[in-house]
Amino acid sequence: MTISQKIALVTGATRGIGLETTRQLAQAGIRVLLAGRNFSAAVKAAEGLRSEGLAVDPLALDVTDPSSIAAALSQVQDTFGRLDILVNNAGVLLDAMDRKPSEQSMEVWRETFDTNVFAVVEVTKAFLPLLKSSASGRIVNLSSQLGSFGLHTDPASPIYDFKLPAYNASKSVVNAWTVHLAYELRGTSVKVNAVHPGYVMTDMNGGNGELDVKAGARTSVDMALIDDSGPSGTFTHGGQTLPW
Ligand SMILES: NC(=O)c1ccc[n+]([C@@H]2O[C@H](COP(=O)([O-])OP(=O)(O)OC[C@H]3O[C@@H](n4cnc5c(N)ncnc54)[C@H](OP(=O)(O)O)[C@@H]3O)[C@@H](O)[C@H]2O)c1
Repeated sequence: MTISQKIALVTGATRGIGLETTRQLAQAGIRVLLAGRNFSAAVKAAEGLRSEGLAVDPLALDVTDPSSIAAALSQVQDTFGRLDILVNNAGVLLDAMDRKPSEQSMEVWRETFDTNVFAVVEVTKAFLPLLKSSASGRIVNLSSQLGSFGLHTDPASPIYDFKLPAYNASKSVVNAWTVHLAYELRGTSVKVNAVHPGYVMTDMNGGNGELDVKAGARTSVDMALIDDSGPSGTFTHGGQTLPW
């Protein structure tokens, strides 16, 4: 590693958008920590990207497990002493598609919020000191257009009928958290933004979607690479601002 090489950490990077985000950040010359809750899956995925000539290292990180977060933090601290980019990508969609909003189980609500909300806050809190040690820290939070109140209250919106309350509300909270953290970090070198990756063909939606993962990772990568004049506290897809 050269001192000037940027270090990124992508959570939930063993497959889907996270794996492709890792690839594209590494292709941009960044050393990427490919984090996965299943360490052998992370090792395998990292080996695949290394065989493409990319600087990728596996990292064990279950974002819902405080001891796993602490272990990952000390590993990054001891090895690099800083973190330049954190992509909070890990997420779950657990709502039962055949149930109405009022019929989703509390287990689904709790599990969804544990991964999509509380883990994002906890991982970010843990790594924030290392991001502040960077000359230009960047945090990208994977939200979704499904978290947009503006779109959910507009009968003409294409997502109007996608009322998956636990998942959608979890992404609304990711947006709120992004705004609050951006406020706290104003005037510092750390920028935080929420992104909608697009409707992307991954395991999360059974391979349905409009974009392949290459296009689906683009917004995360672009927002991870913004320069010092870039925005903070935004919610975008492909450079377009989305309604909160
Ligand atoms: N696909 C879309 O159309 C779409 C649209 C809007 C937003 N998003 C968001 O984009 C992000 C990536 O989604 P995706 O479509 O790539 O999903 P995916 O293919 O289902 O991948 C999800 C990733 O998250 C990981 N993960 C889940 N729980 C975890 C935990 N506790 N600790 C660490 N990793 C965990 C999974 O790891 P395992 O392999 O161990 O399960 C997997 O690597 C999510 O935040 C999702 O909400 C996706």
